[in-house]
Amino acid sequence: MEYITGKSLKEYNSFKTEASAKLFAEPKNAEELIQCLNDYSKEKKLVIGGGCNMFFTKDFNGLVIHPQLKGMREASSKEDDDVFIEVMASEDWDDFVKYTVEKGFSGLENLSLIPGTVGASPVQNIGAYGAEVKDCIREVVAIDIDSCEIISLSNQECKFGYRDSIFKQTNKYIILSVIFHLKRTFNYIPKYFDLNKELEDISNPTIMDVRNAVINVRKRKLPDEKVLPNCGSFFKNPYITIEHADKIKQNYPDLPSFPFQEGLIKTSAAFLIDKAGYKGKRNGNIGTYPNQPLIIVNYGTDDGTEIVDFMKEIKDAVNNKFGIMLEPEVWIF
Ligand code: EPU
Repeated sequence: MEYITGKSLKEYNSFKTEASAKLFAEPKNAEELIQCLNDYSKEKKLVIGGGCNMFFTKDFNGLVIHPQLKGMREASSKEDDDVFIEVMASEDWDDFVKYTVEKGFSGLENLSLIPGTVGASPVQNIGAYGAEVKDCIREVVAIDIDSCEIISLSNQECKFGYRDSIFKQTNKYIILSVIFHLKRTFNYIPKYFDLNKELEDISNPTIMDVRNAVINVRKRKLPDEKVLPNCGSFFKNPYITIEHADKIKQNYPDLPSFPFQEGLIKTSAAFLIDKAGYKGKRNGNIGTYPNQPLIIVNYGTDDGTEIVDFMKEIKDAVNNKFGIMLEPEVWIF
């Protein structure tokens, strides 16, 4: 294994913030990954996939692991409706989604064009347009960082929630591969307003129609991180009590609200940020995207603390106006 010292991490996070790693390694298989863990058992560790949901405010004083685990294996017969595909963690997420759609396998089409790697998809249970990746995951194969054992976690054991999983809660595992459960049959079920509108002229949308519609909606609303560095949604959509929502609705009757657990509703962080005056607002190098205020964009700094300052400004503005504390969805190091 080659270990690089003082490696710049700017190209490894989609916000393009500058930081250096004390140690950096790119293991190509499970054996090399285990070797990294053994060689530096006492060092603090950070695993980076696509780096699309994280940024740095300071140097990382430990070992950064950027796995290069590639490959894919399909296990199903042509007669079966069920398709099982094991995909290695470092494969590009959207390349994989495109592959499944081209083969006619359904399940992941709503999750088209999400940046990042396959291995990152279960960590925060990526979701878009009424779908979450947990609904297509059968198993996740991972290394237990403490014991260096390779284990397999069933869907249940992954403890998936809204942008949440055991991998996020415990930070105990490094994901090696994900086993997906897809279907050969497909029926479009309208779930999400923007997507239904995009598909309104097509009577029986195919999986490819849905993928294309998702791509169109995303391209309109979300900035390309290669052009304007960003990490997608910066905050999670918050849960509030029904009473709290009713109070806000006295002034903002169009507050989006979706039923969640008893007594709670999920509302829209984008709406709150918008109404707090932060839609398309820019402060120096950092701003919110004009078409979707939930996304913070970097207009030209490599200093992550500027992003944190802007984040705090938005949190304060929303809290002062609505009494809601937004929680970041991205990881800040
Ligand atoms: N809205 C506004 N003003 C705006 C934009 C949106 O008020 O300028 C309100 C509207 O009421 C709109 C609502 O926000 O109906 C929801 O907006 P959108 O459909 O864009 O969805 P979101 O809840 O803001 C979530 C995910 C996105 C995902 C979209 C589409 C989270 C944190 N974000 O955003 O995920 O693409 O739904 O399904 O759940 C990501 O996680 O990085 C991400 C981009």
